[in-house]
Order: sequence, then C-alpha cells, then structure tokens
Amino acid sequence: MYAQMVKSTGKGIKSREEMTDEERQFQDRVDADEKIEPKDWMPEGYRKTLIRQIGQHAHSEIVGQLPEGNWITRAPTLERKAILLAKVQDEAGHGLYLYCAAETLGVSRDELMEKLHSGDMKYSSIFNYPTLNWADIGAVGWLVDGAAIMNQVPLQRTSYGPYSRAMIRICKEESFHQRQGYDIMMKMAFGTEDQKKMAQDALNRFWYPSLMMFGPSDKDSVHSAQSMAWKIKINTNDELRQKFVDQTVPQAEYLGLTVPDENLKWNEETGHYEFTEPDWSEFFEVIKGNGPCNKERLGARVKAWEDGAWVRDGLMAHAEKKAAKVAAE
Ligand code: 3HC
Repeated sequence: MYAQMVKSTGKGIKSREEMTDEERQFQDRVDADEKIEPKDWMPEGYRKTLIRQIGQHAHSEIVGQLPEGNWITRAPTLERKAILLAKVQDEAGHGLYLYCAAETLGVSRDELMEKLHSGDMKYSSIFNYPTLNWADIGAVGWLVDGAAIMNQVPLQRTSYGPYSRAMIRICKEESFHQRQGYDIMMKMAFGTEDQKKMAQDALNRFWYPSLMMFGPSDKDSVHSAQSMAWKIKINTNDELRQKFVDQTVPQAEYLGLTVPDENLKWNEETGHYEFTEPDWSEFFEVIKGNGPCNKERLGARVKAWEDGAWVRDGLMAHAEKKAAKVAAE
C-alpha cells in the first residue's frame, strides 16, 4: 500500500519537503479541515486508502446482516421481531450509502463485490463469530454496535466529503441499534437466573472479539499514520479501544455482569481502565479467513450474489430498453 511505499519520515509518511506542489496544497486543505470532494485533485494513495476503508466498511455492513438476520424468525416476541427486522434493514441501507460513497472514487460496485467474494477485500472480523442464542443478539447490539459507534462518530469528521456525510446518517441509526441491544441485555440480566447466565455467557464470548473490531494495536497498524495525516482516520485503534472499554465497563456493572478479564482495573491516575489486550494471534487468523464462521459468511454472500443475477440482468435489460426508447423519440 501507499503508506509503505512512500519515503519514510520515521512515521512512514512523506515530509512536506518530499511532497510535490499538488500534494502540499492537498495536505494544506486537509490540515485546514476542508472537505475533499470527488472531483478535487487527490493523491492516488489517498484515493486507494479510501476505497479500501470505505469498501471494507460497506462489506461489513452487508455481511453484518447475517448473524442477526438468522434470529429474525426466532426473536421471542412480535415486537422484538419487528425491531430486529428494522435494524437489519438499516444495516443494508448503511452498506448501500457506503458503496455509493466508494463509487465516487472511481471504483464500480461490481469490482467491490468481486473483491469481497474472492477474499481480496476484508470485512469486519467480528462477523465471523456465531450468534448462538437470543442473548447473543443483545450482546451484538450492545457491544458490536457500541464499538462501531465509537469508531464511527469521529469518522463523521473524516476529510472525504461523501464518506463524512454518509457517516452522519449512519451514526444516528447505530445509536438506536446499540440501545436495542442494551435493552435486550437488561431484560436478560434482570430476568431469571438462567437468563442472567445466558447474558453473562454472551458477554464472555463477545467481549474480546468486540475489542478486536478497532484493529490491531497501534504498533502493528499498517495504515494509521498515513490515514491520520490525511484525516481519513481521526483516532488511533488503541485510543478508540480504550474509550470503548471506559464506556462499556460501567454498563456491564449496571447489568450486574462481569467483564471476562481478571486484570481489568480502574486506574485513578490515568482516569482509564487497565485491561488485557485481545489475543492478537486469533485476530490475525480470523482476518486471514480462518475464524469460526468465515466460510459460512462468505459462502452466503456469494450465493446471494449468484441467486440475484437474474434480477440484475432484468434491471439492466429494462434500463437498456428504456434508453433505446428515449433515443428513438
Ligand atoms: N476486521 C478485519 N480487518 C481488520 C480489522 C477488523 N476488525 N481491523 C483491521 N483490519 C485490517 C485492516 O483492514 C488492514 O488490512 P488491509 O491492509 O488488508 O486492508 C490490517 O488489518 C491492518 O490494520 P490497520 O490498523 O493498519 O487498518 P486501518 O487503518 O484501516 O484501521 C479500522 C482499521 C479501524 C477498522 C479502519 O479501517 C476503520 O476505521 N474502518 C471504518 C469502520 C469500519 O469498517 N467498521 C466496520 C465495523 S462493523 C459495522 O460498522 C457494522 C455495524 O452494523 C455494526
């Protein structure tokens, strides 16, 4: 990637002296918090980094429907079904805004899909873990959407206009998602002994995978330095992970649940919780394709793409017919 190819300044990014005039002007606009729009000049590395990040983000929203979609028919009440259905539908919408934002950078949706299906593009590691019971749906809303919001609120200020505007709408919806998850957790944690056990078990299984969502530790993050210089990313992976832990531990305490980390401790001096890092070897295995559900998730997406071919062909044929009619008039 670009971040690794440019001459090193010690942080893996170009110094002002190493930049061309165009690159310097571009960096000045970014530093002045001006939004970069699709037709503006931009370094090729900026464009590629955005396509990678926005594309992965879009794929995450789409693949992210699978672990929850699986529970729509099994939600315990009609109200819970309706809420979950609306939430899953929101995630599909988020994927579509984000694909549109990526398309403004000159990549087609078909190309993005092809790269997802061939494994050349990633989606969030979290969606390779199974949802085994109803408490998991609570944990996904509370922790997974909670982590997603922590990461996405700062992205509303990202330097690329179409991405930033998509994030504003998405964040509003994600905060509802997080609350519906916490609401399920409250019902379970304050319910019967068995329900409380299920809530604790869901927290035990989703805690570390949720911490992994923020990406590898800063020392192993390949893209952070350049992405932060371009204000594509606003915070480092570790900063956001820490904020998430600080916000979530009191929420677990309110539920009467125990975060599965013996080393978790409030540090008066720093004003933050100390916690055990996730098992990074597990994270790297999951993003290589070896997580518990990678094959199932990708298989479901490829099948949906293949099964939907007749719809895309029909729409294209209709559009061509309509265009030919207009041309003939
Ligand atoms: N899952 C999968 N891959 C991950 C990952 C994760 N949780 N975290 C990092 N990676 C990958 C990176 O993509 C990169 O691989 P690549 O070079 O092949 O693309 C590699 O690990 C090194 O990581 P870096 O820290 O260098 O990567 P980034 O600077 O891109 O940071 C990120 C990773 C913090 C996830 C950043 O890309 C980001 O903020 N993305 C936008 C948010 C996003 O994608 N969220 C998805 C969450 S799920 C969601 O929103 C759905 C909702 O409904 C819950």
